[in-house]
Amino acid sequence: MYSYKGEVEELMFMYVAIILAAGEGTRMKSSRSKVLHTLINKPMIQYVIDSVTKAQINKKILIVGKNREEIEKIASKDILLRTQEIGEGIPYGTGYAVMQGMDDVEDNSTVVVLTGDTPLILPETLKNLVEAHEKAGSVATVLTAIARDPKGYGRIVKDAQGNLEEIVEEKDATEEQKSIHEFNSGIFVFNSMALKEGLKELKTDNVQGELYLTDVIKIFRGRGEKVSTYLLPDEMEVFGINSKYQLSIAEEIIRERINKQYMLDGVIMENPSTIYIEEGVKIGKDTRVCSNTKILGNTSIGENCLIESGSRIVDSIVEDDVKIDCSVIEKSHIKKGADIGPFAHLRPNSVLGEGVHIGNFVEVKNSNVGNGTKAGHLAYIGDAELGERINVSCGVIFANYDGKNKHRTIVEDDAFIGSNVNLVAPVHVEKEGYVAAGSTITKDVSKGALAIERANQKELKDWVARKKVRDQIKEEKNGGKK
Ligand code: UD1
Ligand code: CA
Repeated sequence: MYSYKGEVEELMFMYVAIILAAGEGTRMKSSRSKVLHTLINKPMIQYVIDSVTKAQINKKILIVGKNREEIEKIASKDILLRTQEIGEGIPYGTGYAVMQGMDDVEDNSTVVVLTGDTPLILPETLKNLVEAHEKAGSVATVLTAIARDPKGYGRIVKDAQGNLEEIVEEKDATEEQKSIHEFNSGIFVFNSMALKEGLKELKTDNVQGELYLTDVIKIFRGRGEKVSTYLLPDEMEVFGINSKYQLSIAEEIIRERINKQYMLDGVIMENPSTIYIEEGVKIGKDTRVCSNTKILGNTSIGENCLIESGSRIVDSIVEDDVKIDCSVIEKSHIKKGADIGPFAHLRPNSVLGEGVHIGNFVEVKNSNVGNGTKAGHLAYIGDAELGERINVSCGVIFANYDGKNKHRTIVEDDAFIGSNVNLVAPVHVEKEGYVAAGSTITKDVSKGALAIERANQKELKDWVARKKVRDQIKEEKNGGKK
């Protein structure tokens, strides 16, 4: 891609990205840092970082502020974090932010500056921008686009010959300048030495009293240096997020991009505008994903599955031919042909074998369920080892918690657990053990035995007739009232 010049050692740091993420983001009206707001479960800033990485810009400097601690948790180790101090009496603005990274920029390198709130930028665009910058031999190239409504953006002011003259912020612009539709995307390429010099001359003589990075353009012009623009045809690729409304618009675009790729790769989507799939999730061909579903995190789904409406699947493995209906699956593994839901909940560390059926209102947690085992309705299976072909009837509870510690229950192959049974852990039901409905089991059940734990049924003859007589007497005493 780029025309590399020079020796290998030099080459390593020839391209540097400075990503600005220290801003206060006041327009978001949030207690969380703007760049950490998520789009389809991934922080805004991560999209920018990923785009830079894919454009093969290997040195990355991230300018952080009060959000440093939070960003440290998500930023990969190869990113240099530099802190911009924020507070009373300290300069503020994108120019000041860039200054915080300049000590780590080698002379003679090419610096790509990006704002952390423009997550839709594509790696190809960054490559093309750098290439155009080098071809033009400019000291600065500004990535621009034409907005239908440019409100809020810095405007690109050009001279009579159509050469870039300066960038004027909305708040500092004259009415005439406000009518310009070409805007600054916030993404630039600079010659590092020119940038160092330019930054030294920034002043706070603007409406916001900030050090604007954008002012380096007119500084370069004043020195007779060449500056240029690189116009992007799609304004939405550099859509900047300043509010939660804009966050939702950007999320729609990302959702559409992601879903389109899955469909092109063979996934069937019903009403895709309601389906949220995080980048990186794997889904096999002919799997049908229905409306209002979320598939997030480190998840992989096989072929020919049916993910019915209202499901949420997070950090899980789902093998081929599985059906999940309106259920929540977290950190679990569902093997081939299993059938989950409607309204089931698999909590972390649940492993369901082939052909398992987990039906309505069944919750499974930290349990292994063997092939062909079924729990059709209203059950809680927690901290359990279940063998194969077991029947867990309606209302069965694995009582795993004694108020202090969790204990495990083991149920072996071909056992039958009747309705409304409590299995109080630790307890062991051996192979083909039968537990009668309504029993509360606290002792192990041996192989092939029937365990019943319930009082003998009594019958009181003519009880209803006697009750009627009693009621009649009571009513008469009360003057006819019941
Ligand atoms: C900026 C540009 C504007 C451009 C727009 C594109 C300037 C002065 N204005 O405006 O021309 O059209 O982006 O979206 O550059 N930041 C810091 N430290 C600061 C201030 C900001 O790191 O002191 C970071 C923010 O976290 C954010 C980015 O810089 O990621 C842009 O800041 P923001 O306040 O959103 O700038 P805009 O007003 O949108
Ligand atoms: Ca912005």
